[in-house]
Amino acid sequence: MEPTLLHQFPGLSKLPHVSLGAFPTPLERLDGLSTRWSTEVYVKREDVSGVPYGGNKVRKLEFLLGAARRIGATRLISIGGVGSNHLVATAIYGESLGIPTSAVWVRQPLTAKVKTNIRAFGATGVSGVLCSYPTVPLHVSLLVARSRLSGERPYFVPAGGSSPLATVGWVSAVFELRAQLAALGLADPERIYAPLGSGGTIAGLALGVAFAGMDSEVVGVRVVSRLLANDATVRRLARACAAILARRDPTLPPIPPVRRDQLRVVNGYLGRGYGHPTDAAIAAVREAREVDNLQLETTYTGKALAGMRDDLSQRPARRPVLFWNTFSSVDLSARLKSATLDSLPADVRALLDEPTVADWS
Ligand SMILES: Cc1ncc(COP(=O)(O)O)c(C=O)c1O
Repeated sequence: MEPTLLHQFPGLSKLPHVSLGAFPTPLERLDGLSTRWSTEVYVKREDVSGVPYGGNKVRKLEFLLGAARRIGATRLISIGGVGSNHLVATAIYGESLGIPTSAVWVRQPLTAKVKTNIRAFGATGVSGVLCSYPTVPLHVSLLVARSRLSGERPYFVPAGGSSPLATVGWVSAVFELRAQLAALGLADPERIYAPLGSGGTIAGLALGVAFAGMDSEVVGVRVVSRLLANDATVRRLARACAAILARRDPTLPPIPPVRRDQLRVVNGYLGRGYGHPTDAAIAAVREAREVDNLQLETTYTGKALAGMRDDLSQRPARRPVLFWNTFSSVDLSARLKSATLDSLPADVRALLDEPTVADWS
């Protein structure tokens, strides 16, 4: 289906795009958390954004894979942790278009969900290399060069799928939300909470709020190092995305810059580092499951929900608030049954035999 933004501004339909997901994603009230937190809490069910795989990467991939197809790409090359949801999404949707994926992986704490994603790489035939963080650019260059030498046309998908073009998908998500709120007769949420990783989700949401003129503050709970994601990196990405939109359709109404009161980054929930479960995240995952049957995890959504809970107790909201659930809830077990793991390098396969880091979630 055509993204709401492209439908509303047909001049933007020149942007590269391929339909992958199931949009609009449902908007629901969370009865349990609303009662517990004495605040009207809604959830945007990005967890069911696609049939083969959900989560927040699908909107980005619609544009990234649109661009890949436009150049006739025959291989996708991307990077991420060994449990990267972004890499799983890229591999699954790339496969659906007949484009295989190669990955440059870095280690991260081996929780049960991380191990599931390693098996998912095997099931989708992802090949690649495991390396240390500082050598990632070198290994990407090597994979690109090797792919070209073997006659392929590689397309590089950036970390977390965050690029100015991919961010258009998240601007569109705000227009989608606005249409749903209008249909239900609901006011703009006072705040929209989501995890802040590579930044495309929060940048697109903030730009969308500014462009659509919504009366909402976007709150990104940072789950990666401050060097990688912060207020400045998010605003830069939002500006670059706005420039793409304005360039593609000069008849577009002017896009205002994201105001101070439209974007806030919440720090203090990362813990020991990316992917390390924190007590607060574990507690939030449990609470969400117990009271609203929300299936979260501890790397992104658990940390984000913990940040949201504390933020609401420190600054009570007067209007409803929204949690954007960015983690896929699609069951991969059928896909995993056929997993041979043959495509994976031996050191990635060996990670499955290492002890699992408990997150009790
Ligand atoms: C479940 C989940 N939530 C949130 C994020 C972060 O989104 P972004 O990278 O756009 O900041 C990711 C990124 O990998 C993710 O997998």
